[in-house]
Amino acid sequence: MCGIVGYIGKKSACPILLSGLKRLEYRGYDSSGICVKTKFGLEYVKRKGRILELEDALSSKNFKNCFVGIAHTRWATHGEPTEVNAHPHFDSTGEIAIVHNGIIENYMTLKKMLIAEGIKFVSETDSEVLAHLISKFYEDCNLESAVVKALELVEGTFGLLVMSKTSEKLVAARRGSPLVVGIGEDEMFVSSDVSAILEYTRRVMYLNDDELVVFDAHSYAVKNLKGAVLGKKIHEIKWSIDQIEKGGYKHFMLKEIYEQPTAIENTLRGRIKDNKVWFDFNIDLFGIRRIIITACGTSWHSALIGKYYFERNCEIPVEVDYASEFRYRNPLVTENDLVIAISQSGETADTLAALREAKSKGAKTLGLVNVVGSTIAREVDYVVYLHAGPEIGVASTKAFTTQVIDLLLISLFFRQRLGKKVDSLVLEELQLLPEKVSLMLEQFEKTGTIKKLAEDFKKYSNALYLGRGMNFPVALEGALKLKEISYIHSEGYPAAEMKHGPIALIDKDMPVVFIAPQDHTYEKILSNMEEIKARGGEIIALIDENDSLVSHLTKNTISVMSSIEEISPILDVIPLQLLAYYIADSKGIDVDKPRNLAKSVTVE
Ligand code: G6P
Repeated sequence: MCGIVGYIGKKSACPILLSGLKRLEYRGYDSSGICVKTKFGLEYVKRKGRILELEDALSSKNFKNCFVGIAHTRWATHGEPTEVNAHPHFDSTGEIAIVHNGIIENYMTLKKMLIAEGIKFVSETDSEVLAHLISKFYEDCNLESAVVKALELVEGTFGLLVMSKTSEKLVAARRGSPLVVGIGEDEMFVSSDVSAILEYTRRVMYLNDDELVVFDAHSYAVKNLKGAVLGKKIHEIKWSIDQIEKGGYKHFMLKEIYEQPTAIENTLRGRIKDNKVWFDFNIDLFGIRRIIITACGTSWHSALIGKYYFERNCEIPVEVDYASEFRYRNPLVTENDLVIAISQSGETADTLAALREAKSKGAKTLGLVNVVGSTIAREVDYVVYLHAGPEIGVASTKAFTTQVIDLLLISLFFRQRLGKKVDSLVLEELQLLPEKVSLMLEQFEKTGTIKKLAEDFKKYSNALYLGRGMNFPVALEGALKLKEISYIHSEGYPAAEMKHGPIALIDKDMPVVFIAPQDHTYEKILSNMEEIKARGGEIIALIDENDSLVSHLTKNTISVMSSIEEISPILDVIPLQLLAYYIADSKGIDVDKPRNLAKSVTVE
């Protein structure tokens, strides 16, 4: 997820592009760049870091009389956040400049082909191939035809904006990554979302997949990639800028919950092919005697689920440790250990310190990180990125689900490497996830069940969350979500532990959330529910969509799509995220900024 802005018109382009980038900074914030057309050709400035760095650098340039330009704020996926990897990217002659969102999946093949033709690449990005490809097909100032020919060779996703030194027109194209075109008085804008251009125009067109727009300041044509001209509806935007940055959602947390189908799709992209799991790192697993997973907060909960995956799929013993505990107890770590550090931000102080401790003792290290180029990502021997997109809400949601998916994928990848067969049902169910999550979210929205439960349950001051097996960590995560944003005291337990203490708390003021999929522990969970009911406790139960027994025990049920055991934690956590969200919101709490918490804890 990155941000694109483009402008052509009668005003100075730079201030418009810069203000657009600032609005888009929530989409990506590790580096940025601007390219404008001057009398010397295409000139650019790029900077690592926040947009302010770019603004500083631009103050020494005289771009005042430039009326056309493109700009980008990056959230790195391929290649670290550096000035060279920042967009715009150029062809070797300086004729073509592009900014790109999305992932070019076959970029390695294309890059090899272009290198064989004598092209020199300067960045590590997948996007740079687009600039060279377009340049290869650019003839007679016909930018449109060059873009179309280039895109015919591309596999993957793009929100693409292209300008050239000699063409009067700009071209933007979309597949998978959003693009909106703003229409002004003798001026045109392009952006990844309307927030960047709303200050200047409220008349916009949304591009659909496989559509492109060719435009100058006064005219435009929208076409499909085969060249047919399309009639496009112009929308009049009525939303405020704040509403738009959150995609129309009230909070970033809610937006990020709803982004999970896309985030999961991006995490899975390119990982499953020919009934196999693919990663591009190579650890000698035969020397590994133990896996230690270390993390904090929500990431620690995904680590707990990872333990089930690795022990089941790789038959290697796994320990899961809070990073803060691991680093201070002089852990017995050797070169035969693989230490996996999980961190959304890649900057959490305790996780980083635990990683350094493990490295100093000779362990091999693997990082599971969302923020590309973060400290943990740079310090591990091997890194796997989540590709979940920026997570802004303090309460982690899409990072959790994508961490769990990556842990499952890595455990299957290790299984293959150990010479064992991977169950194709698991791969099939993984691939079905984006659709299932999307359908489930739609269903929750339509029935309003979770919202209604939230209204009924917000009066309580305590709650228990119970689950078994892989869903015990989901109980912990559900309880954490509730306490961090609604300030209701809540605890997660393995359901069977209930009898060893928590049951003493049960009365009419202690609601219990059960995670009750129809797996091999289902009967036992039903007995636990009976025990709660007998003591007057209120039950909320997450049940399989075809469950018929739980409704005799409680009317408060949330039905979750059926899947296999490995996948159920991913599906089960989503209603719990929503339950916490709606309870917190109905209590009037600022969900994205809960008291005393920080998104990234870089101090001990
Ligand atoms: C903070 C955040 C949590 C997060 C934890 C670990 O406490 O509020 O949402 O789970 O840090 O963060 P990390 O970036 O390392 O996953």
